[in-house]
Amino acid sequence: MTAPLLANLIERATGLAIDRGGVSTMLDRFVADRMRSLGHTSIESYVALAGSSGPEQQALIDAITVPHTWFYRDPEQLRTIEHLMAAAPPGPLAIWVAGCATGEEAYTLAMIARRIERQVSVVATDVNETVLKAAQRGVYSALAVRDVPEDDRRWLAQRDGKFVVDFTLRSGVSFARHNLVDPPPPAPRGAWDLIVCRNVLIYFAPTPASRLLARFARAVREGGWLVVGASEVVFEPPPGLELVSSDSRLVLHRPPRHLATVLPRPKLRGMPPTVPPLIDPAIGPAIAPTIAPATAAGIPREPVRMSAGDTAARTPVKPVNPDDLVSALGRGHGLFEQGEILAAIEAYDQLARAHPSIAEVWLFLGIAHYAHGNAEAAASALRASLCLDATMWPAGFYLARAYERLGRRADALQQYDLIAVAELPPLTLQSSSAVINELRALRHDVRNAARRLTAERTARARRLLK
Ligand SMILES: C[S@@+](CC[C@H](N)C(=O)[O-])C[C@H]1O[C@@H](n2cnc3c(N)ncnc32)[C@H](O)[C@@H]1O
Repeated sequence: MTAPLLANLIERATGLAIDRGGVSTMLDRFVADRMRSLGHTSIESYVALAGSSGPEQQALIDAITVPHTWFYRDPEQLRTIEHLMAAAPPGPLAIWVAGCATGEEAYTLAMIARRIERQVSVVATDVNETVLKAAQRGVYSALAVRDVPEDDRRWLAQRDGKFVVDFTLRSGVSFARHNLVDPPPPAPRGAWDLIVCRNVLIYFAPTPASRLLARFARAVREGGWLVVGASEVVFEPPPGLELVSSDSRLVLHRPPRHLATVLPRPKLRGMPPTVPPLIDPAIGPAIAPTIAPATAAGIPREPVRMSAGDTAARTPVKPVNPDDLVSALGRGHGLFEQGEILAAIEAYDQLARAHPSIAEVWLFLGIAHYAHGNAEAAASALRASLCLDATMWPAGFYLARAYERLGRRADALQQYDLIAVAELPPLTLQSSSAVINELRALRHDVRNAARRLTAERTARARRLLK
């Protein structure tokens, strides 16, 4: 059990919340070892030593940060980034990869830029000095490069069973130590064209996360973009950034001043990141639904497919009349419950187009896609729901299931992990539906199911590693 003193120290020094993603386990173990070897008998004296910046604090940071990453992580989101790069004004692009860990993401972006013939200068930063050394070495295991597409393998030379990043590719990428609680690193021309900060905010406490987003907003150029991880909560888009949809992915955009529209702010509640799941006989009944299965065949349309430059993405949303919204959602629910899944998808899809900032609409669209068997479209809608409202835990629950169906085990695990540690708040939905009533009633079972699945998977992974 981590001492509050230590938790405060970590949050102050890094913005990280120790109750996220296994940080506390690593922390307790590390501090116990250090106290023993340094001869400290009280936590107070150790905190006094590590509290000021210096080698002990750096060692602590290196021990507790989670540098898990690999090449081409989340290819779907990388395609969105590729489109943003391609649509950017001509000239070299300044890209900041914030929280780069061992460097795979930065090199991945450099590979993509080469493929689309965009000149980029990638500055990749991390607070963990150990991982930065590995990033600079640029030597990776077969596991780390497993998802690199055939065409991009030319940037990796095989040597002694390892994969070494090509010198030419490296020339566009630099690594530096930077702590995200500090002001951003200077951009080559004063502001960044693109900031990529994926799978970092999930480990942050809410207040440092909001502050970080505000700093990103000031650091990105007008017309530039901020991309956070797919399962991360945008607590509240900071002043200056708009949440827009690009290739079915939500990204943050800083509109040029003359184009800035005053979008009604989506109702976002800052709180722990996402959560996760439900119906999947193949995966096992976390919860068995009583809702009618899909009866219609055919591939439903993808929700919101707008390109980065699509002005529709930035059109101010019509004010929502709550009564209209509730009755329109109710129509969708009615169709869904009668087993008219495609018609329900159509109804929710239209609502999502008309009201893209309402998390509840995306939740039901995602559930309907999931019930229809289109896990890709489900994941896309559910991510939108979570982005808009972090407390929408049924969206996280289904999202984990969708990831499992898609074979994205690491993403599914991350979602399960989040739901397992989250305090699931009561749902405040405007409409009612049988699916949600079930989930509401089974709130605690949902969390227990997520915990059980996380534990099972961890145990299986341990067995495999033995
Ligand atoms: C899970 S990795 C994400 C790597 C990569 N962005 C990706 O998505 O695969 C999270 C990284 O964030 C870094 N990090 C955490 N807190 C940070 C902070 N305050 N400043 C800079 N980096 C931080 C960690 O050291 C770790 O390497």
